[in-house]
Amino acid sequence: MKRYSGKKISTAVFISGRGSNLQNLINFSYKKKSPIEIKFVFSNNKNAEGLKHAKNKKINTFCILNKKTSIIENKLIELLNKRKIKLICLAGFMKILSRKFIKKFKGKIINIHPSLLPKYKGLDTHRRVLENKEVYTGCTVHHVNSKLDAGKIILQKKIKIFRNDNAKSLAKRVLLEEHKIYPKAILKIYS
Ligand code: GRF
Repeated sequence: MKRYSGKKISTAVFISGRGSNLQNLINFSYKKKSPIEIKFVFSNNKNAEGLKHAKNKKINTFCILNKKTSIIENKLIELLNKRKIKLICLAGFMKILSRKFIKKFKGKIINIHPSLLPKYKGLDTHRRVLENKEVYTGCTVHHVNSKLDAGKIILQKKIKIFRNDNAKSLAKRVLLEEHKIYPKAILKIYS
C-alpha cells in the first residue's frame, strides 16, 4: 500500500444523522495511503447517531445550536480557522451553508450525494429515480459551490437498477458505493 508522503490534510467532517460515511472516512483516515487527518466532527444535530463514531475514536465533536445560521457559521469559522482545517467533507449534512461560508472555504468543501448528478439534486433521490423509471442510478462526490448539489464533479459511480428494487434496497446498494467513492475522490484530489 502506498504511504501518503506529505503532511496529512487537516480535515473536518460535517454530519447530521446516521454517519455511515463519517465512519467510513474515519477508517480511511487511519490508512497509510490516506492524505487526511480528521481533526473534528461538526453536527447541527446534537442527537446525530453518527457522533458516536467520532467519540469512539476520541475525535473531537462539536454541535453549535442556534436559530440564526450566521451565529452558528461564525462560531464554526472560528473553529475551522483555529484548527487550520484545509478540507471539509460533508457527509449527510442536512443544513445548507451560506454563500459567505462557502466563499470563505472556496475549493475546500466537498460533498457526497446519492444520485448521478446533475440528475436528482436535493432530497428523496431514490424515490424520484424509481418514479422516473430510470435504468441506472449511483452516487457522486463533488465540490460544493453556492448552488445546491451543483459544484464540479470529482467522482461518480453508476449502478444498475433492478426490476424489483425499491427506495430502500436502492439506498442500501448506493450507500455501499458511496463508501467506496468518497475515499477514492479524496485520493483523486490530492494525487
Ligand atoms: C448518504 O446517502 C449521503 O449520500 C447523503 O446522505 C446520506 C448520509 O448517510 N448526502 P450517512 O449519514 O453517511 O450514513
